[in-house]
Order: sequence, then structure tokens, then C-alpha cells
Amino acid sequence: MAEEYAVNIDNVVKKFGDFAAVNGVSLKIKKGEIFGLLGPNGAGKSTTISMLLGLLQPTSGKIIINGIDMQKDSSTVRSHVGVVTQETVVEPELTAEQNLMIFGRLYHIPKAEMQKSIEFALKLSDLVQFRKAYAGTFSGGMKRRLEVSKSLMHTPDIILLDEPTTGLDVQNRTQIWNLLREINKKQGVTILMTTQYLEEADQLCDRIGIIDHGKLIALGTPDELRKSIGLSSVIEVTVEKEDLQKVAAIFKKVGLEPTVLNNKVTAPGGSNATKKIEMLLNSMSTSRINARNVSMHEPTIDDVFLKLTGSEVRDSSGEYQGSARGMIGRGR
Ligand SMILES: Nc1ncnc2c1ncn2[C@@H]1O[C@H](COP(=O)(O)OP(=O)(O)OP(=O)(O)O)[C@@H](O)[C@H]1O
Ligand SMILES: [Mg+2]
Repeated sequence: MAEEYAVNIDNVVKKFGDFAAVNGVSLKIKKGEIFGLLGPNGAGKSTTISMLLGLLQPTSGKIIINGIDMQKDSSTVRSHVGVVTQETVVEPELTAEQNLMIFGRLYHIPKAEMQKSIEFALKLSDLVQFRKAYAGTFSGGMKRRLEVSKSLMHTPDIILLDEPTTGLDVQNRTQIWNLLREINKKQGVTILMTTQYLEEADQLCDRIGIIDHGKLIALGTPDELRKSIGLSSVIEVTVEKEDLQKVAAIFKKVGLEPTVLNNKVTAPGGSNATKKIEMLLNSMSTSRINARNVSMHEPTIDDVFLKLTGSEVRDSSGEYQGSARGMIGRGR
């Protein structure tokens, strides 16, 4: 019987001592999906990936990949799976081509097919013209592209990527997204990736699972998640830090329930959001508060995350430059 799911995680727990890093996660990923496991630092993303690779044994629960039980036959499973770990692992002293060759040998790619696989990977990573250059001289984005294409050389059906774009700038991040979209569309590779970037999950992934403190707290398409929080609109006012509390008080006065975050005050807009915005503007003007920005938008994945976890969303002032939207972080 053809297996419908690429990955089937059934009630998996991973404890380190008494601490459950993954605490009863169940998740089914369909073949051909791009699935994003979204969560802040320490949520349990890498621990989950390590169990899918057989590097860590679950304390309890079951993992089935392509219909094969990880506990019974992890080596067969590994031949179906491509891996990109959180740390970049290209050999700096070797050229792009040599890096690919070593990997190809490791995965027993037949000699007759080796050159074809290398050409495929160089083309996919857009590194053809850098084939003879040492990987140590590459930018972060080039190294990451080399890694992703390397992990696809043995033509796996599934690729697992642990934060493939963390620390990359917008241009490099977009290139990785395009590469992933291409192999998903053209080769039908199922993609399971972890990310801390809300925008990445939203734009790239067919479905998103939000993980926090080792538990899956939401699951669905980006649209389903947005709808699940039951908001029709979100009002957002950006002000100077010293005015935050005053603006929050004005929100309450006009009947809105404010959340203060970074230098923003947000609230569900409700049915008469436009009227509420007018009242806010009048009241802020009377109090001589200058807003840097006032807007109303459809709920975003940021709003979903905030509503579900109450956690802070870091804005573009962090290492994630150039995006209007944020990266998940914990309040510090
Ligand atoms: N070998 C280990 N021993 C003890 N605790 C561990 C071990 N590995 C991970 N943890 C803890 O388990 C929790 C989950 O860690 P994990 O690395 O899975 O998080 P993550 O979601 O990948 O975070 P990040 O975004 O920082 O990579 C963390 O609190 C971490 O400190
Ligand atoms: Mg991690």
C-alpha cells in the first residue's frame, strides 16, 4: 500500500533527564508538502529533527518515515532523506566541486553518475562558475546553497532542513526559498524545515506547525492559522517608547484591548475598526502624541504567534535585517 505520509510523528517525547525538550508531538506530513516547524529558541525544533534522523532516540512515541519505522530500520530511512543541519558544514579547504564529490562518495553515488550529480548540484545552487573556488571563501549564502544542493545529490524524497536561512540576508534567503520551491515542484521532494522567521513560514510553507516549549500549539495552512485566531483585523500603532503606556491607555479608553510589544501597541479591530482608529487618532492628537505609524491589517502569522504564546516578536533591528516582519524571540 502506498504510504500517504512522508513523515508520521506519533506522540513523541524526548526527555533530557527530567526535562522534556519535545513533549508529546504528533504530526503527519504529506508527500510533496513544504512544511515549516516554527518556534523560538529552545522550542524543541532541532531535537525533533535529530530524532527524525535517528541521531536521538525518542524517550517514547513513534516515528515513521516513508512508511518505515525509524526504530526498526533507520539506515533505510536515511537513504530516503536529505539533511541540512543548523550549523553549516562545508569543508573550507575544498572547492565546491570537491565538497560535492566527498558527499557523493559518502552516499555511495555510483561513479558513472557522480559527475551528473555534481553538475545538478552546482546548477541548483547557482555555483557553476564557482566550482573551482574554495568553499572557505564563500559568503554565508553561498555556503548554505552548496549545503542544500549537496543534501539533494542522492535524490532523496524528503529533505529536512534545520533553520536553513537563519542569519542570511534577504537576497540569500530568497535564493534558498527559490531553490527549495524548485526541488519541491520539479522533483516532488517533500520539505520539512524549521524556522524562527514568521515571514518565511508564511510565504514558503504549505502548512505550518507552531512549536513552543516542546509542544505543538497550532497546525494548519497559513490562512487557517490566521483565521483560527478569530480576528477580522488588527489595529497597530507605532510610537516612541516613552509614549507606549499612554497609547495603551487610549486604546482602552476607546474600547480596544491593547497588547504592547516592542514599540507597538496592537489590538483586535473588531467590527467598527475604522471608527476606532478615528477615535484613537483624535485622542492621541489631544494628548499631543505623535504616532510614527497607524495601520490596520489582516491578521498575520505574527499576530497568530503572539496570541498563542504571548511571546515577543523581534523586529528587524535584530540580526534579521531588511524585513518588515519579525523573527520570534523570547522576552529577555
Ligand atoms: N543534549 C541535551 N541535553 C540537555 N538539554 C538539551 C539537549 N539538547 C537540547 N536541550 C534542551 O532542549 C530544549 C530544546 O532544544 P532544541 O535545540 O531542540 O531547540 P530549538 O528549537 O532547536 O532552538 P534553537 O532555535 O535555539 O535552535 C532547549 O531547552 C535545550 O536547552
Ligand atoms: Mg535548533
